[in-house]
Amino acid sequence: MYKIVIEGGRPLVGEVTLSGAKNAALPILASTLLTNGVTVLTNVPDLSDVRTMGRLLQLMGAEVTGRGTIKVDSRGIHAFEAPYELVKTMRASVLVLGPMVARFGRARVSLPGGCAIGTRPIDLHLDGLKAMGAQVDLRQGYVEARCKRLHGADLVLRQPTVTGTENLMMAACLAKGRTTIENAAREPEVEELARVLNKMGAVVRGAGTSYIVIEGVDDLHPVEHAVIPDRIEGGTFMVAAVVTGGDILVTNALPEHCDAMIQKLRASGADIQAETGGLRVRGTGAIAPLDISTAPFPGFPTDMQAQFMVLATQAVGPSVITETIFENRFMHVSELCRMGADIEVRGKTAIVHGEPGGLQGATVMATDLRASASLILAGLVAKGTTEVLRVYHLDRGYEAIEKKLTPLGAAIWRVRADGP
Ligand code: EPU
Repeated sequence: MYKIVIEGGRPLVGEVTLSGAKNAALPILASTLLTNGVTVLTNVPDLSDVRTMGRLLQLMGAEVTGRGTIKVDSRGIHAFEAPYELVKTMRASVLVLGPMVARFGRARVSLPGGCAIGTRPIDLHLDGLKAMGAQVDLRQGYVEARCKRLHGADLVLRQPTVTGTENLMMAACLAKGRTTIENAAREPEVEELARVLNKMGAVVRGAGTSYIVIEGVDDLHPVEHAVIPDRIEGGTFMVAAVVTGGDILVTNALPEHCDAMIQKLRASGADIQAETGGLRVRGTGAIAPLDISTAPFPGFPTDMQAQFMVLATQAVGPSVITETIFENRFMHVSELCRMGADIEVRGKTAIVHGEPGGLQGATVMATDLRASASLILAGLVAKGTTEVLRVYHLDRGYEAIEKKLTPLGAAIWRVRADGP
């Protein structure tokens, strides 16, 4: 077990390159189940969630090799189950459901259950598959789905679910006829998955908008593809620049994926310039209070809420942060308060009474992936030493974050720790 130790109070200056996007890589890896052959993916982030998805595909009979560049040979698929042991460690395992039902006519996938940030049901994934002709039963904590061949359907999502849209889009690619998805998630990762599916021979139009149309085809072929950069990792480094009063060039950030974050950073007083191939982000002194409400893309991402809360702790005056996507995503608040932050939570809203320079180093516990990132940011700005425990949460979604922060001037180390 490891912990991260940080000596805070140094401005971060320099260049950083983003890894491939976790939330794009995971559905793309699942989409290889739709093909029969060897898919080669490059710019895949080396993360524990990616390794979990690799293990899941292996359990099903795929050969999965490599790190960074991953080859998936899907010719040997012979098992159609995602067991509880894997699903409980990574909810995104549910992304194999749509492809398996579509290609093999059967799947048995453990229900993910709740998690640290909320209940997170998958009813919309299941309703969509049922509308496409699958018989779906829940038995002993597992979803069991069967069908001869899925057929196209007109699906209307009650709310825009990211992995739900991805699961149904993948399933629809091999269904007979046309499927439409209304109120689809518009996240760049959905659009990226559609790009890959179309390369595989699928006919998907409208991904990236809230109305997606898929014309089913009989089979898909393997492809080579480079995964897009991770906008959430990008946003995390942007906040690191502003909160430490630094100056970071995020060399491969895609500005069109980061618009909501850029707007909020600019409103806080940061200077952000698009430069060839990236974004330069500079802290300019006093940080103005923030007013943030999370929303589906193109709104402000829930995956950046915890990191911006750290920025709010350094603002001059009170900020208001409202979480509308998940019901329990304020677990970082109590840890930030242990570092001296003054934050009140009222239902879905946190009021952050900012005090520049007010954070003190402490030993804190990571509770989920993005909460861990916020504690790292807090440690970078706090006076003294911060120790972040349970960094396995961080390793699910940030590739060697300490190795990227050190060249920017951070004093940060990963050291062995006793206990969890
Ligand atoms: N929802 C339902 N029913 C469903 C599906 C979703 O009610 O069948 C609700 C959820 O409970 C939630 C809302 O819809 O209130 C949106 O959830 P969504 O389904 O979009 O979340 P997800 O697909 O499970 C992905 C990301 C999350 C990210 C959310 C929101 C992946 C692998 N995960 O989750 O990423 O927070 O979208 O943008 O893409 C992370 O990377 O740290 C992370 C948690």
